[in-house]
Amino acid sequence: MYISEKECNMRIDECRIIQFPKITDPRGNLTFVESQRHIPFTIKRVYYLYDVPGGESRGGHAHKSLQQVIIAMSGSFDVLLDDGVNKKTVSLNRSYMGLFIPTMIWRELVNFSSGSVSMVLASEYYEKDDYYRDYNEFIAALKRKE
Ligand code: TYD
Repeated sequence: MYISEKECNMRIDECRIIQFPKITDPRGNLTFVESQRHIPFTIKRVYYLYDVPGGESRGGHAHKSLQQVIIAMSGSFDVLLDDGVNKKTVSLNRSYMGLFIPTMIWRELVNFSSGSVSMVLASEYYEKDDYYRDYNEFIAALKRKE
């Protein structure tokens, strides 16, 4: 069967789950995350989403240079991923797992459970010019890179 270059080398497949160490203990479990060991970049910034009202979504953008790992610290939510060609949905609901998202992936966070907390480890400081917030601009930028 003929497989196109795009299908062989899907950027969406670079989005992957990273499992962190889990020290189970009857007193309560412990997980730790080390920059450049468990995370494939140096962590420059941490932010978190909380108090998300039912039915709301976050994200809805892509980043030029930023890489991220998203962790469901509490509760659950779904991450919709789109590399401009292929799409996939990853459900996060374990605080010892993170979703690595490389550059130039459109993402949306949806279906937050009540009380859920999403923590994001980021490779860069906040920079508003690093965002594509318009989907058509994101697609046009991908085409320019081809
Ligand atoms: P945004 O990245 O759009 O949030 P999300 O992707 O989670 O929906 O950011 C929302 C607002 O917060 C926007 O005005 C930029 C600001 N912001 C910062 O000032 N610093 C940060 O580190 C982040 C992530 C956002």
